[in-house]
Amino acid sequence: MFKKLEEINLRPKVFGAYTAESLWSDSYRAKQMLAFHLNEHIDVSSRNHNFIDSSVQWMKNEFAISSGSRICDFGCGPGLYTSRFASLGADVTGIDFSASSIEYAINKASELGLDIEYIKANYLDVSLPKQYDLITMIMCDFCALSPEQRKLLLAKFSELLSSAGKLIMDVYSTSSFEAKEELAAYERNHLNHFWYQEDYYCFSNTFKYEKEKVILDKYSLFPQSGESEVVYNWLQCFSLDTLKQELAGAGLKVQAVYSDVCGNDYNSNLSEFAVVVEKNT
Ligand SMILES: C[S@@+](CC[C@H](N)C(=O)[O-])C[C@H]1O[C@@H](n2cnc3c(N)ncnc32)[C@H](O)[C@@H]1O
Repeated sequence: MFKKLEEINLRPKVFGAYTAESLWSDSYRAKQMLAFHLNEHIDVSSRNHNFIDSSVQWMKNEFAISSGSRICDFGCGPGLYTSRFASLGADVTGIDFSASSIEYAINKASELGLDIEYIKANYLDVSLPKQYDLITMIMCDFCALSPEQRKLLLAKFSELLSSAGKLIMDVYSTSSFEAKEELAAYERNHLNHFWYQEDYYCFSNTFKYEKEKVILDKYSLFPQSGESEVVYNWLQCFSLDTLKQELAGAGLKVQAVYSDVCGNDYNSNLSEFAVVVEKNT
């Protein structure tokens, strides 16, 4: 028991394991996530509909979205942005590895009579045949990736952007890193059976990696029957400068910075910020 508790409380090597699939696309958890995406009262997984409406309205003007604009949404979830883009007449692709979210998005598109291409895939592996006028990656998903994965993804974005194309994404700021505290706690059936239908114990550890400005939420899960499991949720926090450096490595540059994907004014004290990115030609 002592040895097990030592393991639970062990700080792993930064970005030492990638378990995003067990968080998002495990068949049981993906259904819980879908409910979070669609829940108007909590900004978990997706933001609320008012936010998304004003975000899409702002992007429509900022990026002159109109009939035929080619847009690709990385980590599109249940299609809350893609369906709005398609309603503006855009030619839209959405990528996500959650079967539940993609299924929901496809059904919603057919209900609304919208022609949207949905791809159920890991966006790190996907290869796309065309270029886009706008690439979106919303709700700080970029922050869950390791430096190597981010490098790979930025190279992909650079290839996929048309010559005047833009990328918009939001990220966690270093202010959010400062505000976070390390934690060790445990709970029976954590988050109201989010992890398993059956009873379980979840040990939650939050670790901070000061030098790298990375936060890890580590969940050590012990179901009543079946194997124990560890899920790692990494959050890379950025300053505007560190983000600019990463983008520059892929031949990309920041064209504008905002506090969010609704175009509100940038404020470095807030927990997130959003950047509009273009090719550095
Ligand atoms: C925080 S949610 C945001 C969803 C959507 N962008 C929104 O704001 O409504 C992140 C989404 O990215 C997806 N995702 C995470 N990692 C992924 C990967 N490697 N490949 C494909 N999808 C991924 C998850 O399934 C989830 O739907």
